[in-house]
Amino acid sequence: MNTATFAQHSRPRRLRYSPAIRDLVRETTINAKDFILPLFVSEKIKEKVPIESMPGVFQFTLEEVVEQAAAAAADGVRSILLFGIPANKDEKAEQAYAENGIVQRAVRAIKKEVPQLVVITDVCLCEYMSHGHCGIADRERGHILNDESLELLAMTAVSHAAAGADIVAPSDMMDGRVRAIRMELDGAGFENTIIMSYAAKFCSSFYGPFRDAAESAPAFGDRRTYQMDYANAAEALREVALDIEESADIVMVKPGLPYLDILWRVKEAFELPTAVYNVSGEYSMVKAAAQNGWINERETVMETMMAFKRAGADLIVTYWARDVVNWLK
Ligand code: PBG
Repeated sequence: MNTATFAQHSRPRRLRYSPAIRDLVRETTINAKDFILPLFVSEKIKEKVPIESMPGVFQFTLEEVVEQAAAAAADGVRSILLFGIPANKDEKAEQAYAENGIVQRAVRAIKKEVPQLVVITDVCLCEYMSHGHCGIADRERGHILNDESLELLAMTAVSHAAAGADIVAPSDMMDGRVRAIRMELDGAGFENTIIMSYAAKFCSSFYGPFRDAAESAPAFGDRRTYQMDYANAAEALREVALDIEESADIVMVKPGLPYLDILWRVKEAFELPTAVYNVSGEYSMVKAAAQNGWINERETVMETMMAFKRAGADLIVTYWARDVVNWLK
């Protein structure tokens, strides 16, 4: 064989694949079961309130959030992630772990109405603290008290499990919270409750719109003392390793798109079920561009979801979860 012929034969042939063949050799697939839909339930409202910075996303009343959960399940969504907005905030986040807090009531109602839906709860204190930080604050010194916050986080997780949550998802980033939560859950008889930890959570501008939705913007300072510096990848791996040692069952990387490298490295290094959070800012940017006719929403979203799966995500938390499962049909 002369070299010219060889070159000809070794030319990449993919451009000639027919659609059917392209489908056969596709490496990555996305499935309805991969998607987790975040839902906001508020104790302060009489009917749903649109989040201006997140078109298509709402705060719902208790009754409405149950309907939303049922409708999402009917569409084919398998799991939801619940965030609560309480009527009262204080310096101890009492409504975060109140037996009749808004999330606890919502979990009970959803589990009764849609038992097959996997209910995940966000375990954090920021929505319940008058200052909007994720832990107990020492206002004078302007910082967050890590160890003092652990007990409240663990109480919050146990109250969610008691209400029927299948998975608790600590998003606060206090050190040692996975262990504290695991110990309290086991002690209270919830050995089967799963922990999905926001293991590598970066301090990010992409959370901006979420803070409108969850009414959780910090009143002073920022979250830099407990969320990670976006310049650090090795640190992210150390954070994930710690959470796994503390017995996290599922680890999450957040935000999503700007951190695909982290996602890839986490999946490669640990091979644990790995989730990614396609956060509010990522959502709002695409929505805004789509509303202006500058981008095709559906195609952009599907490409993004494929990118998450390709980078190693097993689970994707996204405000588009319902759209995606419908588009997959
Ligand atoms: C904190 C929490 C945040 C998000 C999820 N849980 C915000 C923050 O850390 O400031 C952000 C999610 C999003 O932007 O979509 N409880």
